[in-house]
Amino acid sequence: MTIQTETLSQVETLKTKYEQAGQGQVFQFYDELNVEEKARLMEQLLEIDVERVNSIYQKAIQASTVSHHNEQVEPLTKDVFDTILTDDEQPTNSRKRKYKDIQDWETLGLSLIAKNQVAVILMAGGQGTRLGSSAPKGCYDINLPSKKSLFQLQAERILRLQEVAQQYALPQQQKVIIPWYIMTSGPTHQPTVDFFKQHQFFGLDEKNITFFEQGTLPCLTMDGKIIMESKGKVAIAPDGNGGIYAAVQNKGVIEDLKRRGILYTHCYCVDNCLAKVADPVFVGYCVSKETDCGVKVVRKTKPDEPVGVVCRRGGRYGVVEYSEISKELSEKRDPEDGGLMLRAANIVNHFFSTAFLERVPEFAGELEYHIAKKKIKHVDISTGETVVPTSNSGMKLECFVFDVFPFSQHFSVLEVDRKEEFSPLKNAPGTGVDCPETSRRDLISQHIRFVQAAGGTVKGVPSHITDASQIPDDCHLEISPWVSYAGEGLSDVVNGKVVVTPAVIETRQDLIKVTHH
Ligand code: UD1
Repeated sequence: MTIQTETLSQVETLKTKYEQAGQGQVFQFYDELNVEEKARLMEQLLEIDVERVNSIYQKAIQASTVSHHNEQVEPLTKDVFDTILTDDEQPTNSRKRKYKDIQDWETLGLSLIAKNQVAVILMAGGQGTRLGSSAPKGCYDINLPSKKSLFQLQAERILRLQEVAQQYALPQQQKVIIPWYIMTSGPTHQPTVDFFKQHQFFGLDEKNITFFEQGTLPCLTMDGKIIMESKGKVAIAPDGNGGIYAAVQNKGVIEDLKRRGILYTHCYCVDNCLAKVADPVFVGYCVSKETDCGVKVVRKTKPDEPVGVVCRRGGRYGVVEYSEISKELSEKRDPEDGGLMLRAANIVNHFFSTAFLERVPEFAGELEYHIAKKKIKHVDISTGETVVPTSNSGMKLECFVFDVFPFSQHFSVLEVDRKEEFSPLKNAPGTGVDCPETSRRDLISQHIRFVQAAGGTVKGVPSHITDASQIPDDCHLEISPWVSYAGEGLSDVVNGKVVVTPAVIETRQDLIKVTHH
């Protein structure tokens, strides 16, 4: 009896709270639900901070009406921008970087990894909707000869880097470990964990891999009302890759970083088969500039390429996302060299000091939210019928990982070579752009370049390929990242010799077997 009364009063209190926030419709069908459904809905509603949802909606609407025409958007300035590209590929607003710098950064990065001060954070909460797959994107097989998934490629890069960095460790030091924190979301969490278990964590020590789930936000109608997916369930969606900041605080990641003595993190997105996980060059670059928040970019190819551009907005560092940039701004040219004015394309490779991640709650209230209009299946509040819309019926609210840039105290941007570091997997097979076929082609061409740069020849492939289209379709050469992270360690086997394909190189022994005079 007492329990029932308390529950009833709890329901009434919550109902009043939602009504006062103008969101009373979430209780519309409450009385029709059975006991279990009522309990589940109550649990969900208790978890939602309805006032926060309303304020995020207001902020997102406000931000969406601020046009970039009214805001001064400028390219990056030299003090924060460096490039590793050679002279003829350099934009005018960059400082020239000598090869020696890159080596110095790499040495610094490796020595920090060797001191166990570097970790990686993977953002893997997104669903491969555009790719046409419901499995987590990291499980995707881009049809490499080895059939490796994106997760496996990344795991093998960590394994290799741990070995390489071990040479920089002091003799008495313990094993080099690069902890891997993997952010998942409701829909990707369990399948991701299961996939890693099925594959025995790809040879990594399970103790050094942490899966943590990002938060969610309710989906809203265009006028800000919380959408019910069914009579007893609020429609929810992951809160965007910027959900990482709240998640690292709430899910114990920051504590674990501190417990392990990690000072720096490389944070990257799952859908790039070329991602240089824990890249020592980038880590060393950022640390040498005392960076708290840094990002890697590549040169944007054309105005409508779907990439965000890193720039200055209203005097502060930030990104204008491809979904939000005006045509006029995206087409603007630099009067000096005729190239795109905003050309620093974001490749979602971030550097954060642990201290920076810890500082985010200080300005979290000021972070932007973005509106993604979507077709959201819902129950009609007036009729109770399920509606499967054919056009956008509501919105998801998302925070973006780069929304913290304006709050950085030492921001740095490193421009890298697209062909070595960026091949996004966004679209379905057969689309010809940013799809499994382009990912596979870009990875195989990189491995051919590795052999050529090490002084070898790949049978049937012209020397010094400049373009992936020069590679014959039937040339299958794949080198496990566990054998070579960035082309290192191959020359003693292949220099002056010919590598015969097809070849899937999993070990140095495999490489020796397919290499001939
Ligand atoms: C992203 C970038 C864009 C960049 C482009 C390069 C953001 C917000 N945008 O756009 O500036 O030029 O990649 O390819 O970063 N994710 C989560 N949780 C979520 C949503 C996404 O973890 O709630 C992860 C995804 O799993 C993925 C990454 O964030 O690893 C990028 O998300 P995606 O939606 O693919 O971003 P794009 O729109 O392609």
